[in-house]
Amino acid sequence: MTTSTDAFSYALEPSPAPVSDERRAEILANPGFGVHFTDHMFTSEWTPETGWADPTVKPYGPLMLDPATAVLHYAQEIFEGLKAYAHADGSIWTFRPDANAARFQRSAHRLALPELPEDWFIGSIDALVTTDRSWVPTGGETSLYLRPFMYASEAFLGVRPSKHVTYCVIASPAGAYFAGGMKPVNIWLSREYARAGSGGTGAAKCGGNYASSLLPQQIAAEHGCDQVVFLDSEEHQWIEELGGMNLYFVHDDGTIVTPASDSILEGITRDAIGTIAGDLGYKVEQRRFGIDEWIDGVASGHVTEVFACGTAAVVTQVGALRWPDGEAVTDVDGAGSVTMAIREALIDVQYGRAEDKHGWMHRIA
Ligand code: PLP
Ligand code: COI
Repeated sequence: MTTSTDAFSYALEPSPAPVSDERRAEILANPGFGVHFTDHMFTSEWTPETGWADPTVKPYGPLMLDPATAVLHYAQEIFEGLKAYAHADGSIWTFRPDANAARFQRSAHRLALPELPEDWFIGSIDALVTTDRSWVPTGGETSLYLRPFMYASEAFLGVRPSKHVTYCVIASPAGAYFAGGMKPVNIWLSREYARAGSGGTGAAKCGGNYASSLLPQQIAAEHGCDQVVFLDSEEHQWIEELGGMNLYFVHDDGTIVTPASDSILEGITRDAIGTIAGDLGYKVEQRRFGIDEWIDGVASGHVTEVFACGTAAVVTQVGALRWPDGEAVTDVDGAGSVTMAIREALIDVQYGRAEDKHGWMHRIA
């Protein structure tokens, strides 16, 4: 069957064995994060000769990979993360998918992968979510997490950009990213390991960045922390970001600061928060922010709140920064009023409870 969402055409191969209504309802009632997947996935293949071809929504299932497939050896791979939200009237929306499409193109460029046109990116998401619309959870802060990714699928061991590339989108109903829900998270300071370096791939959303974050993340967990914060790789003093989230520092003078660096992932949530915080009357700064400024600022009371932000984590208050012989605690009274005001303003737009003043929402169905 061939079908289309607006201008984007694709083939539809319906799943012969979709999950039963009862089982789906059970999953949607308690989705967790990234553990359950919908009935379908989207795929498309690229070669230099054909360009992007064979856009298809097909049954969700394993990918067959030759053991020599390039991605397994040289990690030529990128991904994105965004969510589909059910609004009270039953309509389904994504938040700034054009920004994810643009970042996916920047990541592709850095990893020498072919850029996917924006209408394919948005069209593929619309196609999958339309097909699996019954999987979009409703109620609370649930959503359908969407994971577009692209990888080198040529079976070849030479080190050069792949001449066969696969693009795929999968979807997973999601609740809170952190098991503790809205509880503040504690952060471990990694002084030994960097996530990325100047001129490297830190600003691209590629799997390798996450692979390099796993050992420090494991060390953080051993110290009872939920996430790790990375510093710059040269001077080891400038705050970069967490393993999978950006950071904001709330100051007692109404300023909120987020680190500037060319080796962090430019978060779409972080960017939106910059605008929202401005709308709420806060002064927003993007500048280099030192680890001493964090620790001393908390001690002096100049830094009153710290929060992490990202698609998966939304806006999550940081309780404490910890290192081997000390900690800087920001969740003193558990209030986090600025963090909570920004969080509410953001999710109100995403869930359709507040006016979309900046034209960020894209209707799928
Ligand atoms: N930084 C890293 C390393 C991430 O993985 C993410 C999540 O995507 C973010 C920041 C936040 O980006 P966004 O707000 O676009 O989800
Ligand atoms: C996202 O927020 O989409 C991410 O990619 C972060 C990841 C840790 C789940």
